[in-house]
Amino acid sequence: MEVVEIHNYPELMDQCCDLINMEWPRNKTARYEQQFRFAVKETDENANKLRTLEMSRDELPTCLVLVLSHEVLGHSKISPIPSIPSGCFIESVVIHPDYRGKGLGKFIMARTEDYVRSRGIQTAYLSTIDKQEFYRKLGYTECEPVQIYGGPVARKLNAELESLNKINKTNDSKEVHLPLASSVSTVTMSPPPPPLPPSPANTAAVVSRSTKVYMKKDL
Ligand SMILES: CC(C)(COP(=O)(O)OP(=O)(O)OC[C@H]1O[C@@H](n2cnc3c(N)ncnc32)[C@H](O)[C@@H]1OP(=O)(O)O)[C@@H](O)C(=O)NCCC(=O)NCCS
Repeated sequence: MEVVEIHNYPELMDQCCDLINMEWPRNKTARYEQQFRFAVKETDENANKLRTLEMSRDELPTCLVLVLSHEVLGHSKISPIPSIPSGCFIESVVIHPDYRGKGLGKFIMARTEDYVRSRGIQTAYLSTIDKQEFYRKLGYTECEPVQIYGGPVARKLNAELESLNKINKTNDSKEVHLPLASSVSTVTMSPPPPPLPPSPANTAAVVSRSTKVYMKKDL
């Protein structure tokens, strides 16, 4: 059993795609792809997943796969954090459903950390909705949200939110939380419009945003 960089084993990409699909079907996988700023259309969704894996390289972002006898049993992805050069962001950690609970999640995380440590990275960050216990056992502790995107779009959003903040400072203000890139930013604005009527989709969005936890580990 070994953990390898997917870009050195392109023949494993289809299998890896299937594994990611199994855990994060269409809508969630689309979110994964948007981290790379691809426009996701239903028709070319699978091509985009492959493209995401094809972006893997020695310097981050890197996708690692856990392989046993040419079978992909796990995946993790390591991305750089432009605002924290000594840190990295670990995401899309997944073990094949048939192989969970056997220590493989711990194993791929250990190898992922070795990989980033060998590149001089000192702190690993991640976010999770419901796997805090798993990561806690591996030494991760809760931390403030980190902004993992530092490109022009994120900077423009930041600037716009800052100017909104200034404009609304004099208004009858109420603190609200807006999603910014992949982190959460606090700005001051006028009161929001009344909430939408409850629906399963709305409820899921609210729950997932409000329960996302950031964690970190010094390596
Ligand atoms: C989370 C995941 C990667 C864990 O992989 P795994 O191979 O089942 O985990 P391991 O067997 O290596 O478990 C390591 C330790 O974490 C614990 N653990 C694993 N999953 C856990 C969970 N959901 N809640 C609490 N503890 C958990 C195990 O009991 C074990 O504890 P121990 O060392 O005291 O025996 C796997 O369940 C998975 O792929 N889940 C779906 C995808 C996902 O949610 N990924 C995380 C995205 S943030």
